Amino acid sequence: MTVRGAVLLSSYYALLTIPVVATNWSVDSLKYVNPLIGTTGGPKPGDSGGMVASVAPPFASVRWVVQTQNSFVSKTPFNYSEEYIDHGIVYGFMGTRQPAIWMGESGWVGIVPGMMKDSGGKIKAKFEDRMLTRVPGTEVFGVGMYNVELDIPDAEGSRVSVDMTATSRVGHFRFVFDSANSSSEHLPYIYLPTTRPATIFHTPDTFVTTFPNGTVEIHPSNSAFEICGSNEEMLDWIIAPTSIQEAASNFKGWYCARFDTESSNASIGHGIVQGDQQMEGATNGHGEQLGAYVLFGFPSSNSKLTVHVRIATSLISADQARVNLDQEIGDALATNIAATKAKTEAEWAEKVGRFNIVTGEGSDAQDIKTIFLTGVFHAMQYPYEVHEPRNGSADDHHYYSAYDNNIHVGNSYSGYSIWDTYRAEWALQLLLAPERIPGMIRSMLQDNDEGGRLPMWKNIIETNIMVGTHADSLLAEAVLKGFGPAVKSPTGEVESEATFTEEELRRMWATAWKDASTPPLNDTSTVYSDREEGVDYEARAANDIHSESVSRTLDYAYDDYALAVLSSLLPESITSSVASVPNVSQFLKERAFTNPWTVWNSDASAISSIDGGEIRGFVQARNASGEWADVTSGFTEGDRWVYSFALLHDIPGVIEHRGGNASFVRSLEEFFDGGWIDFTNEPAHHTPYLYALAGAPSYTQERVREMARMNYHNTPNGLTGNEDCGQMSAWYIFSALGFYPVNPVSAEYVVGSPFFSSLSVHLPVPPFVPRVPPHPSLTSSNKFYDAMTDSYVLRVVATDAETKPYVKGLTVNGRSVSEPVIRHEDIRYGGLLEFDMSDTPESWGGGRGAW
Ligand SMILES: *[C@@H]1O[C@H](CO)[C@@H](O)[C@H](O)[C@H]1NC(C)=O
Ligand SMILES: *[C@@H]1O[C@H](CO)[C@@H](O)[C@H](O)[C@H]1NC(C)=O
Ligand SMILES: *[C@@H]1O[C@H](CO)[C@@H](O)[C@H](O)[C@H]1NC(C)=O
Ligand SMILES: *[C@@H]1O[C@H](CO)[C@@H](O)[C@H](O)[C@H]1NC(C)=O
Ligand SMILES: *[C@@H]1O[C@H](CO)[C@@H](O)[C@H](O)[C@H]1NC(C)=O
Ligand SMILES: *[C@@H]1O[C@H](CO)[C@@H](O)[C@H](O)[C@H]1NC(C)=O
Ligand SMILES: *[C@@H]1O[C@H](CO)[C@@H](O)[C@H](O)[C@H]1NC(C)=O
Ligand SMILES: *[C@@H]1O[C@H](CO)[C@@H](O)[C@H](O)[C@H]1NC(C)=O
Ligand SMILES: *[C@@H]1O[C@H](CO)[C@@H](O)[C@H](O)[C@H]1NC(C)=O
Ligand SMILES: *[C@@H]1O[C@H](CO)[C@@H](O)[C@H](O)[C@H]1NC(C)=O
Repeated sequence: MTVRGAVLLSSYYALLTIPVVATNWSVDSLKYVNPLIGTTGGPKPGDSGGMVASVAPPFASVRWVVQTQNSFVSKTPFNYSEEYIDHGIVYGFMGTRQPAIWMGESGWVGIVPGMMKDSGGKIKAKFEDRMLTRVPGTEVFGVGMYNVELDIPDAEGSRVSVDMTATSRVGHFRFVFDSANSSSEHLPYIYLPTTRPATIFHTPDTFVTTFPNGTVEIHPSNSAFEICGSNEEMLDWIIAPTSIQEAASNFKGWYCARFDTESSNASIGHGIVQGDQQMEGATNGHGEQLGAYVLFGFPSSNSKLTVHVRIATSLISADQARVNLDQEIGDALATNIAATKAKTEAEWAEKVGRFNIVTGEGSDAQDIKTIFLTGVFHAMQYPYEVHEPRNGSADDHHYYSAYDNNIHVGNSYSGYSIWDTYRAEWALQLLLAPERIPGMIRSMLQDNDEGGRLPMWKNIIETNIMVGTHADSLLAEAVLKGFGPAVKSPTGEVESEATFTEEELRRMWATAWKDASTPPLNDTSTVYSDREEGVDYEARAANDIHSESVSRTLDYAYDDYALAVLSSLLPESITSSVASVPNVSQFLKERAFTNPWTVWNSDASAISSIDGGEIRGFVQARNASGEWADVTSGFTEGDRWVYSFALLHDIPGVIEHRGGNASFVRSLEEFFDGGWIDFTNEPAHHTPYLYALAGAPSYTQERVREMARMNYHNTPNGLTGNEDCGQMSAWYIFSALGFYPVNPVSAEYVVGSPFFSSLSVHLPVPPFVPRVPPHPSLTSSNKFYDAMTDSYVLRVVATDAETKPYVKGLTVNGRSVSEPVIRHEDIRYGGLLEFDMSDTPESWGGGRGAW
C-alpha cells in the first residue's frame, strides 16, 4: 500500500540511506468523517461552508463530486439542498478545481452516463437535459468512494449504478447499466461534456455567459478506447493582475479518459456533440458547447453492462494526462476500483487516522468527534497540487504556470486563500502535513519568479482577493518552526537541517521585502475594491486612498511584524542585502508597532448594551486629509468592533489603549453579548482567546465552547461560515486540542478549553529533523517519539472535558503551567498536556480576572 506522506518521506530518507516502514494508519477513523458537513446554505460568506462532498486524496489536484447544480462563482457543483434531498436530481459527475464557493472554476472535467433509444438516438448533452434521478436510499458519501444508483429517464425503467473514486489527478468510475426490460432497444452511453456556457461573475452582481472553446479527440483504435479533450474555462481570469492576464488567458484543462468493458466489442459507436448537433462517428471536434460520447451494447446474454472509466486530468497536455493515468491508475488496475478506493482511503487515514480520540460522557460527544475529524478532512484539501509527474519517476514533477504560460520543473500548489489560512490553517498544516511544506513554500517563491509577487489568493493565477500580504506570515511562521536555514543548538548540534538552499532563502527574503517596501504600480490612482478588474497586482497599497483602509493598515502592520520575525531568523548576509535600511528587523518592528495606532481613535466610543457604560477607543478610517472618516468605512468583512481586536501581534497594545485588562474584558463582553461578534468570518476567529491574554482565561474557556457549539454542527448546513480552504475547521481542531495560535508568528499558543477527555495525535516528523545521526527527539531520550509509526505523540488529557469546560490546572510535559500560554517548543517533538477540568469557573491563570 502507499501512503503519500510516507512516499514523500521515504524519498527524503532515501537520500540519507535510511529505510522507512510505511505505517498503515487506521482506516476505521474515516467512518467519523461526514463529507456532507458544510455542503449547503447560501453563497454569502456567512451562509454556509461552501464545501462539496468530494472524493479525492488530501491536497488532490482535482476533487470529484456528483453534480447537483450548475457551478460558477457563488455556486458549487454540489449542493445538498432540500431540493436535492427530496428529488435527487443528478446532472452527472464533475472533477472540479473550484477551491471555495466565492472562487471560480478552472478546467473542470465531466462524465455523464445515459441511455438512448436505439443506435440512432440522441445524447442528452445539454445540462438541463442530462437529469438522472437518484434511487432512494442508494447514495453513500465517503472520502474514498461515492456510490449511487440512478434512474435513467425515458429508458423503460433502466438504471445505472455508479461507483466513483479518485487519485490526485485521475477519477475512477464503475458504471453498471441495468436494462429493466430485456427486449428494450435502449443502449447505454457515456457522455463527456467538454465545454459549456460559462458564467462569469463581475462585481457587484452581474453574471455574464461566455462560451469557452475546447477540443475533443476520440481514439477508438487505441488498445483501450480513449477520449481526450480540453477546455479553456478559467472563471477568475478576469480578476487576475493585468500584467499576467495575457499568460493566464492561455490556460487549458485537459483530460484523457480510458474505457474498459468486460468484452472488447461492447463499444458499438462513438461521436461528438456540438450545440444541438450530434455527429455520429466523428473523432475530432473543437469549439464551444462541445462533448464526446461512446455508445455501448448490452452483452446479448445479459441485461447488465459494466463500464470502467479512468479519466485523467492535466493542465499541461493530453499526453501528460495519459502519463498521469498510467502512473496513478495503470492499466493493470483499470477494473480494480476497490484498489483505488483503498489507496485514497489510506492517504486520508494517514491524516485522519493520526488522531485517537476517547470521549467521555456528553450527549453530543460523538457529533463533536465527527465535526473534529471531518475538520481534518476539510483542512487537508487545500492548497492543491498543480504539479504533475514527469514521465520517469514519481518524485519528479513539473507544472503549468498561468503566470507565464510555461511549463516549469518542480512542485506547485494552487488554492491559497491566505487572508483566511494564515490564521490557524497554516499552523495546523505545519504540524500535520510537514512533508508538504517545502513544496508549498517553493510554489509561492515560483509564483513570485513567474508573476512578480507572492500569492494573496491564488486560484491557478493570482486573483487579488482580500487584503494584506499574508504570504509574509506563512513564510515567517514556517521558518520560525524549522523550515528554513540549518539551525544549530548553542552546543553545536544540528537542531534543524536546512530546508532551503541559501539561494532560495535569498529569493524568499527578496520577495518578502518587496511586499514590505515596493508599492504596486499605479497604487496612488487605484482603489483596489473587492474583485476590481483591470488592475495590476494588489500588494501593499497605500492606506488612505484605497478601499478597506483600516483593515489594510492593521494587516500590513501584522505583516511587517511577521517579516521582522523572518528577518531575525535568516542569515544577516541575506537580510543586510537590503541596502537602504541599516537594521531591517528594527525598521519593520517599528512600523508594525506604530502604524496601527494611526487609525486608532481614542475618542471614539460606544455605549455598552450590558451595563450602559462607555467603551472608549476604536479603530477608524481617516480621509486623505487626515480627518477621521465615518465609523463604518474602511473595513473588509468586519467592522470597527472586530478590527479593534485585530492587532494579532500587539494585543497588549490594544489592552492598554482600551484602558487595561478590566475594561478590555468589559469591551470583549460587549463584543460577544452585544451582538457584535460575527464568528462566520475570519477576523473574529481569535477573539475568544483574547480574554486569556488579559488575565481572564475562564471567559476564554466559555466563549470557545460557545463558538464551537453555535457555529459547528454535524449536519450538511453545519458550518455557519465558509470553510475558506480549511481555516474554519482549523479553528475547531486547535480549539478542541485546547490551544490556538492567536499570533501565528509568535511560536506561542493561547490556552482555551480542550473538548475531549483524551486525544492523542501522532505528528509526522518534519523533514528538517536530522536523521543521521538521529536528532535526540528521535531516540529513546524522547518519550513522546513512537518509533513504530515514526511520529511524535502529542497527548491532551482532560478527563470529563465533554461536560466540564473550565480549567482548574494544567501541566505541560509534567511541568505545572500557571499562565494560559504554551510554546511551540512544548509540543514540536510531541508532548503531554494534562488539564484538570472543572464544571465551574476556576481561578487558574487569573480566572475571571484578578482585578
Ligand atoms: C500495510 O498494509 C499492507 C497491505 O494490506 C501490508 O502488505 C503491509 O504489510 C502493511 N504494513 C504494515 C507496516 O503494517
Ligand atoms: C444550495 O441550494 C439552496 C436552495 O436552492 C440555495 O439557497 C443555496 O444558495 C445553494 N447553496 C450553494 C452553495 O450553492
Ligand atoms: C420493453 O421494450 C420493448 C421494445 O422497446 C417495448 O415494446 C416494451 O413496451 C417495453 N416494455 C416495458 C415494460 O417498458
Ligand atoms: C472560440 O474560438 C472562436 C474561433 O476561433 C473565437 O472566435 C471565439 O472568440 C473563441 N471564444 C472564446 C470564449 O475564446
Ligand atoms: C460481444 O461478444 C460477445 C462474445 O463474442 C458476445 O456474447 C456479445 O453478444 C457481443 N456483444 C455485443 C454488444 O455485440
Ligand atoms: C519524457 O518527458 C520529456 C519532457 O516532458 C520528453 O521530452 C520526453 O520525450 C518524454 N519521454 C518519453 C519516453 O515519453
Ligand atoms: C498605470 O496607469 C497608466 C495610466 O492610467 C496605464 O496606462 C498603465 O497601464 C497602468 N499600469 C499598470 C501596471 O496598471
Ligand atoms: C537590530 O535591531 C534589533 C531590535 O529590533 C536588535 O535586537 C539587533 O541587535 C539589531 N541588529 C543590529 C545589527 O544592530
Ligand atoms: C471624508 O471623505 C468623504 C468622502 O470623500 C467625505 O464625504 C467626508 O465628508 C470626509 N470627511 C471629512 C471629515 O472630511
Ligand atoms: C493584564 O493581564 C496580563 C495577563 O495576565 C498580565 O500579564 C498583565 O500584567 C495584566 N496587566 C495589568 C496592568 O494588570
